[in-house]
Order: sequence, then structure tokens, then C-alpha cells
Amino acid sequence: MKNIKETLDYINLKTNNFKPEFAIILGSGLGCFCDDLNGTVLKYENIPNFSQTNVIGHKGELLFAMVENKPCVIMQGRFHYYEGNPIQKVVFPIKVFKKLKVKTLFITNAAGATHKNLNIGDIMLIKDHINFIANPLIGKNNPEEGERFPDMSDCYSKKYQTIIKECAKNLNINLKEGVYLATTGPSYETQAEVKAFKLLGADVIGMSSAPEAIMAKYLGINTIGLSLVTNYATGVSDSKPNHKEVIEIGKKSGQKMSLLIKETIKNIGS
Ligand code: HPA
Repeated sequence: MKNIKETLDYINLKTNNFKPEFAIILGSGLGCFCDDLNGTVLKYENIPNFSQTNVIGHKGELLFAMVENKPCVIMQGRFHYYEGNPIQKVVFPIKVFKKLKVKTLFITNAAGATHKNLNIGDIMLIKDHINFIANPLIGKNNPEEGERFPDMSDCYSKKYQTIIKECAKNLNINLKEGVYLATTGPSYETQAEVKAFKLLGADVIGMSSAPEAIMAKYLGINTIGLSLVTNYATGVSDSKPNHKEVIEIGKKSGQKMSLLIKETIKNIGS
């Protein structure tokens, strides 16, 4: 993207050339990760070429801070496709992270489960995804950034999956595993769609994350994906999905997700 230099100049100036090793994208209601962190806060509205986020439960700030003594950048709220952002805007922060020399990315989200082997409040490690949003690599390819046809077999780093599973065990967290299906939203799914997505292999359904993971893989950033099960998808239980419930569960169970991410950061590269 041609304006990325402007974005980097602004960030480098405001953060005094802070160089994060880790990036964390916080999904709906998961902002509590930042509660005990101090650092430099940049509002999206002030960052050149960043979009705004107007979704309730998304703060719209980048935080540069030390987590477990490691330099991190934390996105408090993401840019969704359903907000009308072109797909290149949705993944723009990932390109910025790469330029800042981020090595590892945690992508988190709230999601609805397609079956009852998952419980509300569970954390599910994303082993793979099905992307029904849009592919962010469509367009001209810059060979200096990545390959035209990147392999997706290790989109969610297997090596880091092993590490996070070990960390979950140490924290006594029952970490589930499964496939995330990304759909555009913003309407929740019909019952027929949920049945179809389950047949396709989806364990949870959400409205983000997969395009970000594709961009990260393309750029050579190691990705760990985590879904917080905030509800049962339409028709799986008697209750209907709604955004208020998604935020509430996020707030209630977000602490567990925060602990797990912090423990994993502690154990990566040490
Ligand atoms: N469907 C799609 N996206 C979601 C859901 C859901 O049930 N819950 C949270 N995000």
C-alpha cells in the first residue's frame, strides 16, 4: 500500500521507535487484556490510513506496551469487512506490523459454536479456517512482500500451537481445538447456513480473522488464532445470537484468554 510510510512515520514518532515482537488483535469484548498494561496509546482516528471502528466493544486504539517483558503492540478493536472497509483496509494493520518487525501475531475473536461439544465461555485454538469473507491478496503482487500463491498448510503455526497447548495445561485451562469459519456478517447466520457450515467442517463461526491470518501467512508472520465461544450459532440452542450477549461473555471469559496469551508470550522464544 503506497501510504504505509506515512503510517510508519507517525507510529515511530509517537512511540519513539518502539519495536514490537508480538502483535495481538483483540476481538469483541476482549479489551480487558490491556487493563493492567501501561504504554503508548494511539487512537485509530489519529493514525494515518487507519480505518475507524464503530462497533460496540471495540475501543479503536493501538497500545504499545511491554507484556511479560516483551515488546508488544495491541489492537483494541479491528476493522471489519461488514463495516464497509475494502479487504485491503481490513488487513492493513498486519502490513504495518510486518514493517514494525513483528514476528508473532495473536488473532482473537468472539465466535458462535455450531455444536455442543463446545461450551459458552470455552476458548478454542484455531487449527484451520474456512474463509468466506474475501481474499486480501487479490490484486497486484509485490514479490518483495510474499509469494503470489502462498501455501496455507501452516497458516496457524503448528509449532506455536504446541506451545500454547502446553501453556493452557499449566494454567489448567481446558483449551478446545477446531476450525473457524469466517463469514461477512453483519447478520447472524440462518439456521440452514449454520447446518451447512457445520457439514463443511466449521466448529465455530465468526465475522473476521481469516483474512488477517492469510495476510500474516503471506508476510511470514507466525500466527496463533483463538476464538472465544460467546454463543451457540443459530438453531444450535433455543436462544438467538445477539451482540450484547457476545460482549458480556467476552468480558466474563476474557480474563482467561488474557492469562493464556500472556503465558504464551512468556514461553515463546525463551
Ligand atoms: N455468528 C457469527 N459471528 C459471531 C457469532 C455467531 O454466532 N458470535 C460471535 N460472532
